[in-house]
Amino acid sequence: MLPPFLQPDRMPTTCVVGILWGDEGKGKVIDYLAADADYVVRYGGGHNAGHTLVLPSGKVVLNLVPSGVVREHTKNVIGNGVVVDPIHLCAEIDRLTERGVKIELGQNLLVSERAHVIVGAHREQDHWTENLRGDTKIGTTGRGIGPAYGDRSARIGLRLGDLIRPDRLAAAVAAFAHQKNAWFEPAGLPRIDVDSTIAELRAAGERLAPAIQDTGRLLREARLAGQRILIEGAQGCLLDLEHGTYPFVTSSNASTGGAFSGTGLPPHELEVIGIAKAYATRVGEGPFPTEYDGDLADRLRQAGNEFGSATGRPRRCGAFDSVAVRYSGAVAGVDRLVLTNLDVLRGFELRIAVGYKLPDGSTTTAMPAFDLERVEPEYVELPGFDEDVTNVREWAGLPANARAYVEAIEEHTGLAVRTISVGPGREQVIVR
Ligand code: IMP
Repeated sequence: MLPPFLQPDRMPTTCVVGILWGDEGKGKVIDYLAADADYVVRYGGGHNAGHTLVLPSGKVVLNLVPSGVVREHTKNVIGNGVVVDPIHLCAEIDRLTERGVKIELGQNLLVSERAHVIVGAHREQDHWTENLRGDTKIGTTGRGIGPAYGDRSARIGLRLGDLIRPDRLAAAVAAFAHQKNAWFEPAGLPRIDVDSTIAELRAAGERLAPAIQDTGRLLREARLAGQRILIEGAQGCLLDLEHGTYPFVTSSNASTGGAFSGTGLPPHELEVIGIAKAYATRVGEGPFPTEYDGDLADRLRQAGNEFGSATGRPRRCGAFDSVAVRYSGAVAGVDRLVLTNLDVLRGFELRIAVGYKLPDGSTTTAMPAFDLERVEPEYVELPGFDEDVTNVREWAGLPANARAYVEAIEEHTGLAVRTISVGPGREQVIVR
């Protein structure tokens, strides 16, 4: 039987978002839903993302290319809200092609001409800014994401469409370098060389040209024609520039808000599926109220193989946080949750944070905008389960304690858990 969100009476546009700080397993869910989608569209972030798909032929990690690319009939769109390193995109296409994934530019892979471009100078600036921050560093992926979005806002950015317009490209790179070199040189950052930058971007542009299009228009027309559009979030709601744990966030609207501005689709009814891990993880710096330390953290990291798919960094691990999940679910307009990695919790004690004790001694169930590093979570404890659940495919087949844990998550978050993932494989799913 099809899961409820794949049944034909559903709204045509679905958005999948990570609920906390990313790495919730969106890739697998998108891959699953892409079976029924005409388009899969990325709306934000860049190659800071790492979406892992486990296919019958093995594991594939995608950074920029949307997760529908492994489905033959699906068109994949990198929307205008994404920041694109064109050199990385070309390398990613090569890597996927070597793995047998069929990519036809302009056919099953399209990139918005309005998407902004990441160049080497952005990476240099990313590292330089992090060094300057010292102890308060964000722990970015170092891929130039923040500086590229910064230049977009400062109105000196380059757009993908510039790459296929030689005259515009020369003028745009010259203006960009003029602005940046004015402070790069005094700051000790490498000077941007206009000629080599133009040459590099022109070469990438020539290769990507068939894919560089007005994708907003394409998507608007597709929607009016009743085609199914699946919008793929990157990172997670708590990394959202405005609603996340600022300043320890990424530089785009990773929550559902970005789904319209980052694709060119007009606001319309959207089904929102939130992806939450059965516990919590975070990569990079910043507050994480339910974080474990010591042996418990190490055990969970090993059990869940919690190492970043884009950068390989060990992820920080902790308990399920219903305060954070409820907040993100409300901001993102989540209709239902997919709970991932339930199998990983085998043999662990189960606890759910249900409130935060504030420094003044009071308790809140609301997500504070400040001083999150000073709250103390209040937990409910639940009995654990020792059974291997990776082969379970039915709700009734889960151990009673695992079911009670999922029900407690629903109770404390106020969100329905309709789908549970019990392993990385496509088939390791329980639909209730
Ligand atoms: P940036 O996006 O590289 O600027 O990094 C900002 C913060 O977002 C850092 O804490 C990163 O670790 C985190 N981050 C960025 N992309 C991802 C992702 O795809 N998954 C998890 N964390 C991410």
